[in-house]
Amino acid sequence: MHTNKIWLLFLGIFFIATSMSYAQGLKDLMPERLTIGAALGAAYYAGNDTLYRQVLAREFNEVVAENELKWYQLQPLPGVWDFSKADSLVAFAGRNGMRLHGHVLVWHQGLPNWLQQGNFTRSQMLGLLKTHIDTVLKRYRGSFASFDVVNEAFDDQPNGSYRRSIWFNTIGRDYLDSAFVYAHRADPSLKLYYNDYNIEWINAKSDSVRLRLNQMRQRGVPVHGVGFQGHFILNLNNGFLNSLRQNLNRFAQAGYEIRYSEVDIRIPAPTTQAKLLTQGRDYSNLLRISLANNAVKSFTLWGFTDRYSWIPGFFSGFDDALIFDRNYQPKPAYDSLRAVLQTITHLPTGQHELSSATKKAIGLTPLQAKTWLSQQTKPWRLVNLQGKTIVSNQKTPNPIETLKPGLYWFIEEGREGGAVRLLVE
Ligand code: XIL
Repeated sequence: MHTNKIWLLFLGIFFIATSMSYAQGLKDLMPERLTIGAALGAAYYAGNDTLYRQVLAREFNEVVAENELKWYQLQPLPGVWDFSKADSLVAFAGRNGMRLHGHVLVWHQGLPNWLQQGNFTRSQMLGLLKTHIDTVLKRYRGSFASFDVVNEAFDDQPNGSYRRSIWFNTIGRDYLDSAFVYAHRADPSLKLYYNDYNIEWINAKSDSVRLRLNQMRQRGVPVHGVGFQGHFILNLNNGFLNSLRQNLNRFAQAGYEIRYSEVDIRIPAPTTQAKLLTQGRDYSNLLRISLANNAVKSFTLWGFTDRYSWIPGFFSGFDDALIFDRNYQPKPAYDSLRAVLQTITHLPTGQHELSSATKKAIGLTPLQAKTWLSQQTKPWRLVNLQGKTIVSNQKTPNPIETLKPGLYWFIEEGREGGAVRLLVE
């Protein structure tokens, strides 16, 4: 054979092999109720980085615009709209079967100069707010599943009080109520979110945000969900993870849907192999926490490749916060997420036998676990892929015998990262 041809053959085998190893992206391993998303950045619109699009579509089933739905992009001049990038994002999501989350209708940043310097009155400002929300949401009716209506309305100090933003200063604290009501009227089927940082764990700010949002709901304001941004620093310790879980539980119990909405875990320079492994552990703990609580609907990263990330520009001395490196190679963080999703504990009950085709289809790597359940010391429950709790050992005496064969998430209550995929047959 001609050397050229041999070379091509090798190349072909190599491509088949690499594409096969990722035949299933992270998205294919997620339970149905929990999407895995990424913020789509400027690289997408530049259009010359095809790998960027490929990896995004292969791994994620949700996208959110990093900047392209902010005011300065959509309404650069009063009444002058530019939907070109937003339209392109919506088309990309449609082509790739991705869920769309919108970011953001009301924020103190990302505002055009004309708005910031306009010296508008309260009623003018309310009018502008309503027109903006109406125009955006009516244009995209049916395209977005959920939307950040208000972002970062509360300050870190003192104790999560109202941020003195242009919205607060011009309209007053009721701008939040108005924004949510306008949004609900413009698209009643949209899930409306409040989104913020430093509210992911239990602290004065999350206390305050929970209280204010509850009060809004008591007034009948339609707030459906809370976005925990999740811009974290490497090395999430157990105390912190516990606080994340408890905070998640208390928001879930209050009736909110939750999104981890802008996750990245930044590494203090210099990045070392050991730190990359720690980052993997951090990512997997965060995903396990999300898997263990049915209220969590999305696990969304603020980008996906270290090639493009807001981190180095905003946090000097930090970088490498995402799960792919600059050359789109998976980092330990990626492998850790994948391992959480892929590791299946196989629980033969002796009552059913799954076909080998089924086992193959779900990529079963059995880890025999006959005695596994009897070793469990904490209360647990089994959750189906839609997120419904099917049995718990607290309520059902012989839980396994009552189960149909299939894939479940095994959730161990109160344990660090207690979620494992479980195949029952
Ligand atoms: C950031 C973008 O990533 C940057 O490109 C932009 O310059 C500033 O905004 N919280 C948010 C996001 O809600 O909108 C921010 O995104 C990051 C912090």
